[in-house]
Amino acid sequence: MREARPDEGSAMRLTDVARARRDGSLAVLEGFHALKHAVRFGGEILGAWTADPDALEALRGSMAPDVELSVEAVGEEELARVVPRAQVVAVARRPVRPHPDVLIAADDPAPLVLLEEPRHLGNLGAAIRVAAGADAGGVLTTGHQDPWHPDAIRGAAGLHFALPVYRINRLPKGPRPLLALDPDGERFDPRAVPPGAILAFGTERGGLSPALLERADARLALPMAPGVSSLNLATAVSATLFALRLLSD
Ligand SMILES: C[S@@+](CC[C@H](N)C(=O)[O-])C[C@H]1O[C@@H](n2cnc3c(N)ncnc32)[C@H](O)[C@@H]1O
Repeated sequence: MREARPDEGSAMRLTDVARARRDGSLAVLEGFHALKHAVRFGGEILGAWTADPDALEALRGSMAPDVELSVEAVGEEELARVVPRAQVVAVARRPVRPHPDVLIAADDPAPLVLLEEPRHLGNLGAAIRVAAGADAGGVLTTGHQDPWHPDAIRGAAGLHFALPVYRINRLPKGPRPLLALDPDGERFDPRAVPPGAILAFGTERGGLSPALLERADARLALPMAPGVSSLNLATAVSATLFALRLLSD
């Protein structure tokens, strides 16, 4: 059974959550699913708080009996001051992973997802969630949004702990083929996607940058019904990854 027990030497208090939000080595987990996945995938939980331990335990028993939670009880108002919308909040250490260049250079057949300047944290989280579900090798993002922002973690249901997730400045050159998913590209055929490809998806409004399109080895479009210009970002990631995933099973 996986266990969420605050490490004794580094136990935190609920009032430390505000500081944890600004600490790049920590992740603030809002809600049961984020905490559940962090624990299930080996995250180190530094503190967890709820105003209703019985309800949380009922949820755990019905939805995640493999996961054991050690959560401190706090007052409802005290919790609401820190997280207005969640039944539970926790702080975990972000997993220490090899440098992203190592992942990009690795000879691994699992595709990598590159999100170029995603704007919407919910979308970003949903893309990470689907990448974890489809067993992708990792998610790379560029731009100002932090993929470890609590709203993105919530959108991903905490699946950041299941696969490498990095923000990078720019994509280094490497041996992996770079495929641009672009509504104006050639028709996407999952059978033609080489192993280990980097699948690049553009920003919500403007799509992929000219620089990335220029650099890509191919520009691929998911076929759309007449009159539909494009899919939502996370939906496009989902359609692409699961088309590949269904071929591999
Ligand atoms: C909301 S779309 C951006 C729409 C933008 N107007 C464009 O033309 O790319 C966000 C991203 O999802 C991906 N996407 C959405 N629909 C797609 C499609 N039909 N084929 C390929 N990629 C798609 C692309 O990577 C796109 O940059």
